[in-house]
Amino acid sequence: MHQAAPRTPKYLADYALPDHLIEEVELDFKLDPTATRVAAKLRLRPNPKVAPGGRPLVLHGENLTLLSLALDRKPLEAEDYDLRETTLTIPEVPGRPFTLDIVTVCNPEANAALSGLYRSSGTYCTQCEPEGFRRITYFIDRPDALAVYTVRIEADRDEAPVLLSNGNPMEQADVPGTNRHYAVWHDPFPKPSYLFALVGGNLASVSDSFTTASGRKVALNIYVEPGKQDCCDWAMKSVKRSMRWDEERFGREYDLDVFNIVAVSDFNMGAMENKGLNVFNDKLILARPDTASDADYASIDGVIAHEYFHNWTGDRVTCRDWFQLCLKEGLTVFRDQEYTSDTRTGPVNRIASVRMLKTHQFPEDAGPLAHPVRPASFIEINNFYTATVYEKGAELCRMLQTLLGREGFRKALDLYFERHDGEAVTVEDFVEAMADVSGRDLSQFMRWYTQSGTPELACSLDYDPHTKTAHLRVSQVVAPTPDQNKKEPMHIPLKLGLLGANGDDLPLVLEDGTALEDGLLEVTEREHVFTFRDIPSPPTPSLLRDFSAPVRLTTSLDADQIEFLMMHDSDPFNRWQAAQTYATNLLTAAAQPDGDAASGKEAVRLAKALGTTASEEALHPAYRAEFLKLPSESDIARELARDVDPDAVWQAGETLRATVGRTARPTLTDLYTSLAPSGPFSPDPEEAGRRALRNAALDLLVATGDASEIERAFTHYREASNMTDAITALSILSHLDAPHRDEALQHFYTRWENEPLVLDKWFAVQARAARNDSVETVQALLSHPKFSLKNPNRVRAVIASFAQANPTGFNRADGGGYDFLASAALEIDRFNPHLAARLLGAFESWRILEPKRQASAQATLQRLATQELSTDSYEIVNKTLGRA
Ligand code: BES
Ligand code: ZN
Repeated sequence: MHQAAPRTPKYLADYALPDHLIEEVELDFKLDPTATRVAAKLRLRPNPKVAPGGRPLVLHGENLTLLSLALDRKPLEAEDYDLRETTLTIPEVPGRPFTLDIVTVCNPEANAALSGLYRSSGTYCTQCEPEGFRRITYFIDRPDALAVYTVRIEADRDEAPVLLSNGNPMEQADVPGTNRHYAVWHDPFPKPSYLFALVGGNLASVSDSFTTASGRKVALNIYVEPGKQDCCDWAMKSVKRSMRWDEERFGREYDLDVFNIVAVSDFNMGAMENKGLNVFNDKLILARPDTASDADYASIDGVIAHEYFHNWTGDRVTCRDWFQLCLKEGLTVFRDQEYTSDTRTGPVNRIASVRMLKTHQFPEDAGPLAHPVRPASFIEINNFYTATVYEKGAELCRMLQTLLGREGFRKALDLYFERHDGEAVTVEDFVEAMADVSGRDLSQFMRWYTQSGTPELACSLDYDPHTKTAHLRVSQVVAPTPDQNKKEPMHIPLKLGLLGANGDDLPLVLEDGTALEDGLLEVTEREHVFTFRDIPSPPTPSLLRDFSAPVRLTTSLDADQIEFLMMHDSDPFNRWQAAQTYATNLLTAAAQPDGDAASGKEAVRLAKALGTTASEEALHPAYRAEFLKLPSESDIARELARDVDPDAVWQAGETLRATVGRTARPTLTDLYTSLAPSGPFSPDPEEAGRRALRNAALDLLVATGDASEIERAFTHYREASNMTDAITALSILSHLDAPHRDEALQHFYTRWENEPLVLDKWFAVQARAARNDSVETVQALLSHPKFSLKNPNRVRAVIASFAQANPTGFNRADGGGYDFLASAALEIDRFNPHLAARLLGAFESWRILEPKRQASAQATLQRLATQELSTDSYEIVNKTLGRA
């Protein structure tokens, strides 16, 4: 089913206020699998901010059957309105308040796009962000149209005993003389349509309550498929932890009588912040020690926090238009990162966030899909829920906090909420609150929102023994991106330290006597020289501490200095970064056509340093584990930036891992043995950290290729008492050609074939395995009886895992990986464009590959471009080719 969809860009510069306002909405749903009837009563009025004069009323609508339409109760005839594929226009409406009654029918069962009202395992549910509400009724479906909603839902009592919508429950009763019942919900907070939600189904629930700081009692419910109630404890704890944290850290209280969460198994994204009724992909709710890994527990905690935090950053204060998406997403990611740092292990979380940024956002910013944190145009908004908007957007909030200080940032956020509660606003409104509270001029900082591309920051340090001064030379440049040629210098907070000969931080005093208490410099020009005085001996600079800005840093440090930082830096992030930099330098050299294998003297030296750090008892085990995770294939490809041969990158990594494994073997073996689990399982950061360290040690031991270590991995699998250990061992074995591999995979399948979320792990492990036959493997997995293209989690487990996490397989020299992805995405594109377009994002870095693979990826993309594509996929394919 292909829609003749518009392919022309929309521009931020074209923003215009809505001609009409919707003040109140009453919705009446009669749920039915194939013909759900929706009666909408809208109270509208002309927008007083728009010049008067009979403007037509234009409503959005898609895939709807219109049954009737009445204005001020008077039925309209076909000639009174203009019904098109995606709009309903009433040319003549009153210049005063009026009502519109619209009755439509939609088909939830046939909705495989999972946008609007659809069914997931029999449960009726909705996804309206960004433009799904128009698939439920005709509406002014844009985020600056805020209305108060009352929703009545009627359904078969057996089919849908649970009926939920936003806000507070008002009424629930049977419809006398029928097998049907209904519920009424009212949400007192005006909201845009994208935050609307409805759920109806046969669901079980787990309940608890939370008393807010001001003493209001809130009912908490998590709704899941019956039988899954024992998998909700962790999620419920996260809800309460998030609610408390937002009160303590940002003074934000919850505002309704109930907070409901529903877990569904078919969901395009992770989760959605609908007011008072968050809907989640069930993989981000359900957890039990035997089914969920530590990584799962951590993402459940983070995503619950994220969606909950949207209640203020997104729901109470929302976006004027979709160009402002970072206003809610970047800020809310920043808030969930801060939550995780405060409630788990700060530095480890910072490392994880930066890894994420560099793995996903840096390539985006360096490739054909580069766009600013606030894009100036888009064809399909669904394609702009990107790493740039989210991850870089969060970094911009972090930089503001760094520049204003934690207290100043908190005050500025308070002012932002005070000024804009109940409004739909812009990035300017947000930054203005920051500027007003701090008295700072943030006009240059605004470039972070409007300029795409990752700034390159080059730093070098000279020491003058006569004057005892150190000169730090800093220069910045933003290379042109396909969307923007000319770039202006940025306002960059640069945190640093200077380490003295014994590794301690030296006091930082500038030439003019200013002491840098917080070690913060501000780079605003293209070039700066900062002079530090009273430096007794040549210092080692630790630059960009805590990753204080989303830039690429280049320095003139040699291997000795990097090793020195690796051993001594007081900034935990930079200490880890030093180890990564050291390894990256070895790996990029080794992955060049005539490079030296990463097994020489330098590799041995790295191995020793890593072994030392990994066994430093004073450090958190989770932090130590990060040192043992060597740079990934995508890290190396990104650093190489051109002529990348994924096989050479993989080989370099294997060689280095083997060298580290062999050199540090005694230490790693000790760690493996001493960290064996003792008590019962707990998902807390302490225990999870021990498992992470032990599993990272195991991974390097197996990398030696030694038969006894492979045996160790197999034993690890067999004796695993939790999913973290089981899936780690399975993943390690999956790359090998040992009989243990097949045995473990078979065992895992037999044990978990009826647990969809665990079975996804089985699919994903195989799709990620770096083996010669991986294209054939994923192709075969598509024909597995348990595979379905209709379930996004399953699709991601196989297709996205392969395309995004199996570089040698996806980039196989004969182009087989590219063809596989293209044809799978094309098939999915016919019914779920959003999902298909996301999968096609895997092509974004094709231009950094060596010529042969480039040609083959390009040919595949060109072939795709000749096909009939959804708007979503059209935009990705053409922009990736450099056309749109
Ligand atoms: N508002 C989004 C969900 C969303 C994304 C709806 C795209 C429609 C289109 C939600 O708040 C979100 O950002 N979810 C993330 C997880 C989050 C922790 C970053 C997701 O779903 O991946
Ligand atoms: Zn979000």
